[in-house]
Amino acid sequence: MSAQTPSAAGAFRTAVVPAAGLGTRFLPTTKAVPKELLPVVDTPGIELVAAEAAEAGAQRLLIVTSPGKDSVADYFRPDEELVATLRKRGKDELAERVGRAPGLLEVDSVYQHEPKGLGHAVAQAGPALGDDEQAVAVLLPDDLVFGPDGDDAGVLARMAQVRTEHGGTVLCAFDVPREQISAYGVFDVTGTDDADVKRVHGMVEKPEPDQAPSTFAAAGRYLLDRAVFEALERIGPGAGGELQLTDAIALLIDEGHPVHVVVHRGGRHDLGNPAGYVRAYVDHMLAHPEYGASLRGWLNDRLKD
Ligand code: G1P
Repeated sequence: MSAQTPSAAGAFRTAVVPAAGLGTRFLPTTKAVPKELLPVVDTPGIELVAAEAAEAGAQRLLIVTSPGKDSVADYFRPDEELVATLRKRGKDELAERVGRAPGLLEVDSVYQHEPKGLGHAVAQAGPALGDDEQAVAVLLPDDLVFGPDGDDAGVLARMAQVRTEHGGTVLCAFDVPREQISAYGVFDVTGTDDADVKRVHGMVEKPEPDQAPSTFAAAGRYLLDRAVFEALERIGPGAGGELQLTDAIALLIDEGHPVHVVVHRGGRHDLGNPAGYVRAYVDHMLAHPEYGASLRGWLNDRLKD
C-alpha cells in the first residue's frame, strides 16, 4: 500500500463510516449487537468496509457512532492475549484473521448524539479532520460493493483518480431498475469521454420513480471535497425530515462545484435489511473454501423441494 499525502489532488487519508443507527430492521438482535458487527460468515460487515477503505489508501477509519455502540470501534482494538492463545494452540491462520482488523488502519470514533440523518452524521466528522485534509471518503457500511468475482472492485481508488482529473467531489453510481429508485439518492447526469464517468448536474434524495432524473443511484461510496462540511451547515431537513448528505451535494452542484460519478459495473449487497444481508452471507459462504461446496449442494437440494 502506497502512503498517500492528503495534499495530492485525489488522495484522502480518512474514511468516515456512519454507524450510529439503531438497526431497527434487525431488532431485537440489535438491542445488544450493533448491526455493523453482524457477521458475514465470520467477518463483521464493518471489517469488510474497513478493508476496502485501507485497500484504496485510507490510513484512518473515523466511525461516527452513538452512545451505547462503542463495541463497533472496540472491535478494531488488538487482542494480544487471544492472538497468543490461538498461536499456542497452533491456530496460526485464525490468529492472523483475528489480528487483521486492528492492523488495517488507525481507528477513531466520534458520536452522533441525535439521529438526524446521514448529512448530520457526516457533519460530525468535520471537526475530527486534519487541517491538511482536502477530501474525505465516506463509506456506508450497509453497502458492500465488489467486482465481478466478488473481489474488491477498486471503486474508491477509481474515484480518487477521477478527483485528480476533475477536482471536486466524486461519488459512486449504479444503475437500478426505475421501480426501485425511490430508495436512493439519484443523479442527473451527462456523459464524459469515459463511459464509466459522468458529470452530475443535480442530485435528489428518494424521488418518486416518475420524478427521478435518471436510474443512476448513489451506492454508498463518496469522495467528498472538504467544502461539503460548510454546505452541510446550510441545509435544512429534507427527505424523511432528515438532514440529507444528498442535499448538501446538490447545494454544492448548484453553486458550481464539480461533482462526478464513477459508474460501478460490479455487484452490490445491501446489508441494511435481512433480505440483502442473507444474500451477502450466502454469496460469501458459497465462495468459502471450507463451507462453499456443501452449502451449494444443500441449496440445490433445498430448492428442488
Ligand atoms: C443512503 C443515502 C442514499 C443512498 C443510499 C445507498 O440512504 O441517503 O442517497 O443512495 O444510502 O445505500 P439510506 O439507505 O440510508 O436510506
